Amino acid sequence: MGMSGDYFGERTILMIPGPTELHPAVQKVLSTPIMAHYGPEWLPIYNESLKLAAAVFKTKAEVFMMPTPGTVALETGVISLVEPNEKVVALVNGFFSQRLAEIADSVGAHTIRVEAELGTAVDSSTLEDVLRKNPDTKAVLAVQNETSTGVLNPIPEYAKVLREHDALFIVDAISSYGGVEMEFDAWGLDYCVGYANKCLGSIPGTVPVAVSERAWDAFRRRKTKPRSFFTNLGVWRHYIDEWGPIGHPYPTTISPHAVLCFKAAAEALLEEGLENRYRRHQTVGAAFRRAVRVMGLETLPSEKDASPVVTAVSLPSSIWKDGGRVNQIMLRKHRIMVGGGLAKLHGKIIRIGHMCVTASSRYIVPTLAALKDTFEELGISLNDGVDAFVKSMPKNR
Ligand SMILES: Cc1ncc(COP(=O)(O)O)c(C=O)c1O
Repeated sequence: MGMSGDYFGERTILMIPGPTELHPAVQKVLSTPIMAHYGPEWLPIYNESLKLAAAVFKTKAEVFMMPTPGTVALETGVISLVEPNEKVVALVNGFFSQRLAEIADSVGAHTIRVEAELGTAVDSSTLEDVLRKNPDTKAVLAVQNETSTGVLNPIPEYAKVLREHDALFIVDAISSYGGVEMEFDAWGLDYCVGYANKCLGSIPGTVPVAVSERAWDAFRRRKTKPRSFFTNLGVWRHYIDEWGPIGHPYPTTISPHAVLCFKAAAEALLEEGLENRYRRHQTVGAAFRRAVRVMGLETLPSEKDASPVVTAVSLPSSIWKDGGRVNQIMLRKHRIMVGGGLAKLHGKIIRIGHMCVTASSRYIVPTLAALKDTFEELGISLNDGVDAFVKSMPKNR
């Protein structure tokens, strides 16, 4: 057992960018008895959860929850707001933004991919050019935090460009919701998907979605009906309106515990304060990246594009062929799970989430210590990163 393994005993801690370690308030809810997912006792709880979700989106627009993975909520937005042969612009700079473009392809949209190198963000002036040349664009698709590369895309800058155009703005905020600034109304977003078990520190199973009035209008003005049921906003509209009064404003069963846990996590977030939580992520993210550099490693994105909630650490090319060993040693010896590279980045990076609970010294310090030891096992001697991290942090974090 390595030194840092001793901090956590036998339990593996999750330093991956989701699922994340649970907020203690969520852990408590998990041991409570089951409730029905409808009816008069349930409705106020569900409605309160929607209010909290809207507070995190910073919106007065309609918010609902889907009992699904995040991808289904993204697909619902694209299927419902984009008709076959309509034009969409997809900003692609990693695995998840690529997937959003693939969802648009699957709807039969004419997808214009605007790409940036892995580890960088698409420039907003490039988006401006593309929209000027394609004034008939129905929607722009973007990911706020590209979890696969640790890049925070500049959604407010893109939103500013979109204000001069008619296109709807569909945003995947799955790995940034509750962790990074979000202003659904002020930025003028139209469809945005949040998440429970990344920066919120809750369990998977319920996905908050915000839909603007402009998006509902666009939905009502469709020429064709979406050829789906569960991922059709019209079906959700129907159940919100017709079954809302009986406390079942959704078409299917949902997980009561997922909603109760979401509620507890969102309450904890608002108690900490949105700005405080965002600042904590920024501080810990910057201190972690600094420590990584002091150790002698590099991050994939430059400081300008770096995400405050997930860091992609580039592995030296000498270990690319067995880059996966870093993850294995971290897990088996230190009981710390870190993420690997997806698709083209397989074996070339590791990804570390510092989200909610794990955005703190008590999780980052052992992770840095374990990383040093892990690289040592692979024959690479690194400097100590712990001291650099601790010195960059305010007290008591
Ligand atoms: C940015 C982003 N989008 C989409 C997803 C997919 O979410 P799910 O696996 O819940 O469908 C993830 C998951 O990590 C993500 O980070």
